Amino acid sequence: MAIERTLSIIKPDAVAKNVIGEIYARFEKAGLRIIAAKMLHLSREQAEGFYAVHQQRPFFKDLVDFMISGPVMVQVLEGENAIQVNRDLMGATDPRKAALGTIRADFANTVDENAVHGSDGLETAKTEVDYFFSTQEICNRTR
Ligand code: PPS
Repeated sequence: MAIERTLSIIKPDAVAKNVIGEIYARFEKAGLRIIAAKMLHLSREQAEGFYAVHQQRPFFKDLVDFMISGPVMVQVLEGENAIQVNRDLMGATDPRKAALGTIRADFANTVDENAVHGSDGLETAKTEVDYFFSTQEICNRTR
C-alpha cells in the first residue's frame, strides 16, 4: 500500500474541549506519523481560501465563522493509506451518522461543529498540505 500524506485540522470546538492529545493518540495508534504541526488562529481570508471550493454552499459563511472562532491545530499525517485511515478515524461529517468510536462520534456535537477536517483525496491532500506548510516545515521521518 502507498505511503501517503494528508492534511488534518483539529477544529475550534475540539481545541476548546482540550482533546488535542486524545485525537493525536488516535492518529498514532492507527499508525499515522505527525510530520508537521502548528496551532493557528485563522484569519477570515485564510479560512475562506481553504474552503473556497464550498463558496456557493449555503453553509459557507457559518463554516468560515466557526473556523475563525478560535484556534485550530493543523497537522500533516503520513503513513500507509493515510488519507483513508484518517477519514475512517474521523467518521461521517454529521456526528449523528458517525460510527461509534470515531473522533466525530466521540467529540463532535453537530455537522457545523464537527471536531476535525481531513483531506478527501490525493490531489486535495497535496493542495491542502501546501496551503498551510512550506517544504521546510515538513519533517522526514523514517520511523
Ligand atoms: S460535500 O458535499 O461532500 O462536499 O460535503 P462535505 O465534504 O461533507 O462537507 C463540506 C465541509 O463543510 C462542512 N460543513 C457542512 N457540511 C454539510 N452540511 C453543513 N450544514 C455543514 N456545515 C459545515 C463540513 O464539515 C465539511 O468541512 P470539512 O472541514 O471538510 O470537514
